[in-house]
Parts: sequence; structure tokens; C-alpha cells
Amino acid sequence: MLEDVVAGLSQNQKTLPSKYFYDERGSKLFDDICELDEYYVTRTESALMKAEVSDITSVIGPNALVVEYGSGSSLKTRLLLRNLIQPAGYVPIDISGDYLSQVGHSLQAEFPQIEVMPVVADFTKPFEIPSTSEPSARRVIYFPGSTIGNFQREEAKNLLAGMADNAGDDGGVLIGVDLDKNRDVLRAAYNDSKGVTAEFNLNVLNRINSELGGEFDLDKFQHKAVFNETRSCIEMHLISTQRQTVKVCEYSFEFAEGETVLTEYSHKYTISAFGQMANEVGLDVKNVWTDENDMFAVMYLERA
Ligand code: AVJ
Repeated sequence: MLEDVVAGLSQNQKTLPSKYFYDERGSKLFDDICELDEYYVTRTESALMKAEVSDITSVIGPNALVVEYGSGSSLKTRLLLRNLIQPAGYVPIDISGDYLSQVGHSLQAEFPQIEVMPVVADFTKPFEIPSTSEPSARRVIYFPGSTIGNFQREEAKNLLAGMADNAGDDGGVLIGVDLDKNRDVLRAAYNDSKGVTAEFNLNVLNRINSELGGEFDLDKFQHKAVFNETRSCIEMHLISTQRQTVKVCEYSFEFAEGETVLTEYSHKYTISAFGQMANEVGLDVKNVWTDENDMFAVMYLERA
């Protein structure tokens, strides 16, 4: 983490990786974000999954091995597991071993008939998928939450290519994608009126302070989310409200007044732009499910 922080804060446009948002407090704040009126993302995806789950599971077909990119703690995962037709197994992939084994145990207890096999790994890098005791019909990679939006296009494409590899012949990818939409709706979702997203963003500085001995004064930074039209993404920034020097361990970083740290991208795709990116790595769009307001899409991709 120190290496990432130092590298990020040494760039011209200072950055911090968004994966560091999610310590215990950050995860709790994200849960609070999901409850906000303005933050439509999670509730829209959940409602969509609920409405379409029987269609989705019939497209996936019987005897699938589901490989989830992420810990599998969401309601959407349980919904999927409850409705899949004789699933061959469930493999959650997460970098945090403690959290993963906790989730793995509780899912195994809830679904005794499904073989649950957690894998501790960074899913942006190659990893081994365990084989099930009974042969499976196909592998389906599940990547909900529009987490794909956090990756820049080239990284997102690489990640999709890795999914295509991991899915193997006859396999598929079930992925949640937040869609391009009205700018005011987008800006409000990331600049909520209660300031929860601001707290979530600032929490990364808290984390640097407590885990790396940083000396950030949180009163001297402000949250701001803007929409980047060129990249079609929300960018979250922390703005330095004054000229200041901040120490982190033996390093020190200069901030000009108004200078920002870019902490997160959240890309918003059209269905066709996302389909194009999938095509470029050998995936065909087999099905698309959207809510009635076309806010969010769940897409099923198959190897071409
Ligand atoms: C969890 C990546 C989907 O980009 O909307 C929410 C994270 N950041 N509010 C998103 C987030 C600020 C979220 N994802």
C-alpha cells in the first residue's frame, strides 16, 4: 500500500487507487451510499436481477460452475445461487483471505448442496480455478456491481480478456454495467446531499494516516465528483483547499491550493460501446437485460 500511495502521489495528476477505499469503515460507508436516494446503482441492479433472474438462469443453463470476481457477499449472489439450475459449484475470488473465508463459510452453510470453493487471488492477474468433484457443463464468470467501471478502458478490456480465458470453451460472462445517462443524475449520485460519498472519499486519507503513519489533515481536503465527457466517466477527486505539505512516513508531498488527487473512475457505458469492447476480446453479447429506465444493464457474454 505504501508503494502504491507514494507512486500515486508522485505523479503530475496525483492519484490514489480506489481499491484502498474498502477497509472496515470504507465498506460500511459504501453500504450507506447504497441506501442514498441519489445513488441509484445498487438498488437498480438488484431490482433488475430480481425481475430477470429466472430468464438469466435459464440462459446460463444447468450444471454451471459460477466464478465470481469479488467476495460474493451481495444479495445478488444469493439470488443467483438460489435460482441456478443444479449449479456445479461456486468459486468466489477475493484478495482479502479473512473476509473471503468468512463469506465462503456462511454461503456453504446457506447452500449445502452447492460446492463452495473460495480462491484467494487478485482477479486482475491470472489465477487457477479449482475443479468441481462433479463435472460442470460450463464456467460462468460473474462480475456484478459495475465494478468494471472502476477500470480504465484498456484495463477493463484486459480484464474482460482474462474472463474470456477463464470462462473457457462454452463458457460465459455475466456482468453488471452502469449505463451512460443524464449528467445531473450522475453528478448527484456521486455528490450526494448528505455528504456520505465525501466521507467515503476522504476515508482513504484516514486510512493512510492510521496504516502508514500519514499526516493528512482531513479538514484541508474536499470531495468533488465531476463527469469527464471525453472518457465518459465520473472522476472522484480530493481537492486541497490550501497550499500544504503532507508527510507520509519519510516522504513528503507538496499540494498547491486547488490541486486534486484523483481517487476513482466510474465509467458509464452505452450497451453498444460495451459490446464493442467485449467483441474486441472475443466475446459476443448473447443477452442484455435492462431496467425500465435504461439505467443499468446486466449482460451475458459468450466466447465467439
Ligand atoms: C462499487 C465501483 C460500483 O463506481 O459507483 C460509489 C463505487 N464510488 N460511490 C461506483 C462508488 C462512489 C461504485 N462501485
